[in-house]
Parts: sequence; C-alpha cells; structure tokens
Amino acid sequence: MCEAPGGPVPGKWFLAPFFSQTEDGTTMALADFLKQLDELAAQAVQAFGSATDAEAVEAARVEFLGAKQGRLKAAQKGMGEIDKADRPAAGKRFNEIKEQVDAAFKAAADRSAVSPVAAKKTEPQFDPTVPGTAFRVGRLHPITQTIEELKDIMGRLGFSVADGPEVEDEWHNFEALNIPREHPARDPLDNFYLATAGKATGASTALLRSQTSTVQIRVMEKTPPPIRIICLGRVYRPDTADATHYPMFHQMEGLLIDTRVTMADLKSVLRLFATSYLGRDVHIRFRPSFFPFTEPSVEVDMKWEDRWIEFGGAGMVDPFVLQSVGYDPEEVTGFAFGLGVERLCMRRHGVTDIREFYKNDIRFLEQF
Ligand code: PHE
Repeated sequence: MCEAPGGPVPGKWFLAPFFSQTEDGTTMALADFLKQLDELAAQAVQAFGSATDAEAVEAARVEFLGAKQGRLKAAQKGMGEIDKADRPAAGKRFNEIKEQVDAAFKAAADRSAVSPVAAKKTEPQFDPTVPGTAFRVGRLHPITQTIEELKDIMGRLGFSVADGPEVEDEWHNFEALNIPREHPARDPLDNFYLATAGKATGASTALLRSQTSTVQIRVMEKTPPPIRIICLGRVYRPDTADATHYPMFHQMEGLLIDTRVTMADLKSVLRLFATSYLGRDVHIRFRPSFFPFTEPSVEVDMKWEDRWIEFGGAGMVDPFVLQSVGYDPEEVTGFAFGLGVERLCMRRHGVTDIREFYKNDIRFLEQF
C-alpha cells in the first residue's frame, strides 16, 4: 500500500479519503471506505429513483454499475488497498451496498419498461410546444356568398337592396303584377298555397311567393319614383327536384323606374352586371317572351364559353303595373328583370346539379 498522507492520489478519486490520517495517526481507511460506500449507495438510490424513462435509467446504470468505469467498480478496486485485517468487513459491506444499488436499478428498469400506456402516465401530461387543435372555422354558404357579391356589383350600379316577405298575399304575388284570377300561373298545382289563411277568416289566400317580382310592387306602393332597387331572396315552386330544378331557389329581382328609361338601359345594366360577375366580356341576348307584368318581355341569355345560357326574364314594366301602384305611365317608365341566383353560381363555379347546394355535404360546401 503506497503512502500519500493527507492528500488525494491523482487519478484515484475514490481512494483519496482512505489515505487521510486521523489526528492520533491511526489509519481510518475502513471507516472512510464505509462512509464513501454509504454515500455512493444514497446517490445511486436517488439517481435510479428519479429516473423517469429508459434513457435516464441507463445513464444511472452506466454511472453506478458500469462494468469498466462504474463507481461501484471503482470502489471494489479500492478495496484491494485496505488493510488485510479490515478487508472482510469492507467486502461484506460492499456486497450489501451492491445489492442495494442493484435493487434500485431493477426497480427503475421495471418502471421504465412497462407498457406504453402506463409509461405514458409517467411522461409529462402537457407539452406546451405542441401546436393547439385548430378550430373548425365555418364559412358562408355558396348561395349566400353569391348573394353578397351580386349586391356588391349592383350596388356599384346604383341599386339599393329591398326586402319582402316570403309568405305573400295574392295581390302582391299575382294581381298587382297583372296576373288575374283565371291566369294559369295561379294554378294550385304550380304554387304553395298555405292552408292557414283562408275563406273562414276572410283574409286573402296566402302562399309562398313564387317570384321576387312581389317586391317591385311592395317598394313602388311605398316609394315615389325614381326607383333603383334589387331584391334577393327565396322563391318557391312545386317542381320535382332534379339537376336543374328545386322546389325552393333564389332570384335576384331588379327594378328601375325613372323618366325615359328604355330597353337599351336594361341591356346595358344586364351586360355590365354579367361582365362583372362572370369576369369577362359577356354578351347578352334578348329573346321575345311573355310576362304579364312587363311589356315588351324578353328572356335574357348570356353567352358563356361559346354557349348561350338562359339566366332569367326581363322587360319594360307594364303600364298596368305602374297604374296598380299609383304611378302615371305617361310620366315614368322602367324596366324589371329577374335572374336565378343558383344558376349564376352554378355557371361561375361549374356546379352541375342544383341539389348539391341543399345537401349540406361539408365536402361540397368547403370548396367555396
Ligand atoms: N318574375 C319572373 C320569373 O320568376 C322573372 C321576371 C322578373 C321577368 C322581372 C320579367 C321581369 O320568371
């Protein structure tokens, strides 16, 4: 045993205390050795006890139980340099400590190797660096989006928005629009008449409006000319649903009343509108037609990708209608038009079946 009283031996850190002398000169190698062993054991138990995952357990294992560089190994080597007489006691204690450390390692290893579910419990439950769950943000229905855009475009042309009820009386839906009682358009099979209002109460029959032209009447009844309005809303007709029909759809009705309004104005407005909405120079074509409330009346076609497509009806407001609301047909004239909103939206977005709008299929609606 080499002597190095009072100081550590370089490179043999564990052995250093064994060579210190007590004041009375007797060696304390055994006592120090045992104290060091106790400290080592306490540190090992603490390290294994706080190791929460396999990596930490392995790091502690290498530090304390490593076959070459482990601290227990170093302690064991140090034993060879203790007084022969003290060695059995040192060895006995070393074995106890070794068992203790082994047990701590085994417990930690078992804990970290348990099933993934249990293992998860030992992991931190909240990781603030993980991105949060995104909210599912809704969007406006394509028809609502279209309506907003149509209002925008027509607003720029000076048209303000008017509204009217969807449950109408026969005066606004028919009579004031020059559709008398015997007219086929009033056929019960072509309209949704409501059973609630009726003869018993003396109230006029109510129905779901079949066109937004009702709003022309409502606005003119209340407002003196000039008038420049659009009305966008639902209309109802008992059609069987197919790719191009649905018992409920939307119309945009336009009405302009002023002095010396002509069909050229009508065509210009429709062309400007179509060009704005469809995004290129769109041609407008008028085909002679008939509506009871306009004279002359036309079908409005727009040329889209080299095909003429019908978008609605229009015409000069019939003098009878102007009279019905108290206007003087000798003083003012005007035009009206009614376009299908679904049809415009379908053209613009390439939708081929109107029923898609009303299925509430999120995969379809998300595309707008
Ligand atoms: N109201 C007509 C329809 O529903 C369209 C139209 C509106 C025609 C205004 C002329 C003038 O078919």
